[in-house]
Amino acid sequence: MFRSSLVNHFHQRQPAGRGRFRRPSPVAGLEDLDALVPAVKALGARHAVYGARPEHYQPVAEALLWTLDKGLGEAFTPDVKDAWTKVYGVLAATMHAGAAEASGAQAAE
Ligand code: HEM
Repeated sequence: MFRSSLVNHFHQRQPAGRGRFRRPSPVAGLEDLDALVPAVKALGARHAVYGARPEHYQPVAEALLWTLDKGLGEAFTPDVKDAWTKVYGVLAATMHAGAAEASGAQAAE
């Protein structure tokens, strides 16, 4: 599951002996994914209004990964790429679900 691989990756990068650090909030937020789902669904519904269609998400994923690769260089390891790919996939799928629910809700009105 992407959460554990992202969090494990983060933990592995901490220097030894610093086990009691406070996690930065983005990672803490990822650990409470259920709380994010309604917000990400709403984001997906807004994106449908912006004109974003499901087929637009793959090119955006590729642009994101390309940018991370250029920006992070050697730090963009296969692990990091895998974690970002999974995070994006879950976000995109949740956004699609939110867009579909919103359009279904509109159609029912
Ligand atoms: C995981 C994928 C994506 C995430 C997390 C994301 C996130 C965001 C966020 C946070 C905003 C600010 C506005 C708001 O909160 O409603 C935004 C705006 C926007 N996004 Fe995305 N986005 C994603 C994918 C896409 C895709 C695939 C497209 C279509 C090519 C797209 C097009 C837009 C547009 C047109 C805006 C409005 C810009 C403006 O007028 O200010 N996004 N996006």
